[in-house]
Amino acid sequence: MQNHSNLNDIGVIGLGVMGKNLALNIADNQYRVSVFDLDPVKVNGVLQQEKQERVGQELRITGCANLSEMLASLTKPRILVLSVPAGAPVDGVCAALISAGIEADDIVIDTGNSLWTDTVEREQHYQGQFIFFSSAVSGGEVGARFGPSLMPSGDLGAWQHVAPIWKAIAAKVNPQTGLPIERFEPGNPVTEGEPCTTYIGPAGAGHYVKMVHNGIEYADMQLICEAYQLLHDGLGMSAAEVGEVFERWNQGSLNSYLMGISAEVLKQADPLTGKPLVEMILDKAGQKGTGLWTAVSSLQIGCPAPTIAEAVYARAVSTQKSLRVELSKKLAGPLSPAMDENQKANLIDALESALYCAKVCCYAQGFQLMAMTALEQKWQLDFAEIAKIWRAGCIIRATFLQSITQAYQADANLSCLLMADTFASTLSEKQTEWRIAVAAAIMQGIPVPCISSALAYYDSYRSETLPANLLQGQRDFFGAHTFERLDKPAGEKYHLDWSAQERVLIKL
Ligand code: 6PG
Repeated sequence: MQNHSNLNDIGVIGLGVMGKNLALNIADNQYRVSVFDLDPVKVNGVLQQEKQERVGQELRITGCANLSEMLASLTKPRILVLSVPAGAPVDGVCAALISAGIEADDIVIDTGNSLWTDTVEREQHYQGQFIFFSSAVSGGEVGARFGPSLMPSGDLGAWQHVAPIWKAIAAKVNPQTGLPIERFEPGNPVTEGEPCTTYIGPAGAGHYVKMVHNGIEYADMQLICEAYQLLHDGLGMSAAEVGEVFERWNQGSLNSYLMGISAEVLKQADPLTGKPLVEMILDKAGQKGTGLWTAVSSLQIGCPAPTIAEAVYARAVSTQKSLRVELSKKLAGPLSPAMDENQKANLIDALESALYCAKVCCYAQGFQLMAMTALEQKWQLDFAEIAKIWRAGCIIRATFLQSITQAYQADANLSCLLMADTFASTLSEKQTEWRIAVAAAIMQGIPVPCISSALAYYDSYRSETLPANLLQGQRDFFGAHTFERLDKPAGEKYHLDWSAQERVLIKL
């Protein structure tokens, strides 16, 4: 709705990379924006960029010197977007807003990667002072500027106010094909297509879903890195050659943003030495913690997400560079089996299948985790909608999210993605190649923790019987922990008197 007053529609607080680009995106979509940052240089930076981009046109962004000025510049109820680092800074700005006179029906949207339980607490804590709303944002700098994937949650009344702006600034998808509609032009936002935002659920739900998105992101990235190592170290391909293979894969079922950027990174020469840039980058991975939170959450709730957890461990092992250097001189590896060109080509094809299967498993783990937490938290998560809003704008956007969308549209209560016919049949078809790729990596001594853990996940779930029967026997032996029997009603507990001379079965 057009605002005819002299007041602005929305305020953005925190003008780092994400805040600045969100502000410019909102302004591109015909909203008037007030901006504030503790650093006046950043405020000026946004204003300058707007001037450059909108020569001869009306300017829509107003810089504020402090939060009181920002509050005075906005229509009521005010909508304030926080783009500050997760943790204490969020509460710092909230406290400052209270001092500046924020009102009970004003809406504060936390767009950072906050821990979801903090969001739940904050909604409670600020009740009566203002509405603490949250919306996780995915897509990095370019996404924030030209269309991110947005995961809002919290007060439904607040969402009614925020929704038109959110739908306007979100990434857009062609609803028929499920493919992103992209245009990276300042002042010319994409207005057609389905917006990549949907109301996720009560407070914390959006941040939880974003956290799982990031867990999947960690695993997806690590899977690609493992494929790179097998092709580079195992098959002796150059970084650029691996980049070409990835480019080819990106034309098929593995098509995704992460596959595309990996190909670009691999083909990039180092401006300093002319060598492949990737070979000059120190092999120690950073992390801000969202993948770790996902793994922790999976362990706490008892949802198997081994591929996500392995991706976090892989980053941890990578940081122990000096230990790896020492152990590389001490521990033996296999003699790599020689391969002719034909065998190499077959392995490359097998690896493509392995990567696809492992990727499906990693998404299956993420969706199962969300489902179990939703049940525990009594959230009504709509998984078809979640898959839909991940089809564009976000880091894990991939063509096959359309198949995930369709799988949940066909059955909203799908217990596991592997149950969907489309994935069950493709994985069954490709599983032999998956095993060939994992076996080749193992025989070459190349670590593939994510690709192989996904295979173990697949094999575990397709096993009607697991050795947990022996495990229950062990537990009963040393700790009298009891067991159930296959031939007796569920819930009936038995214990064998292991220490007695004559071992008798006791029904408890
Ligand atoms: C996104 C990203 C973004 C960021 C993560 C992961 O969806 O836009 O997930 O939020 O890349 O914080 O960063 P780390 O790899 O540093 O943990």
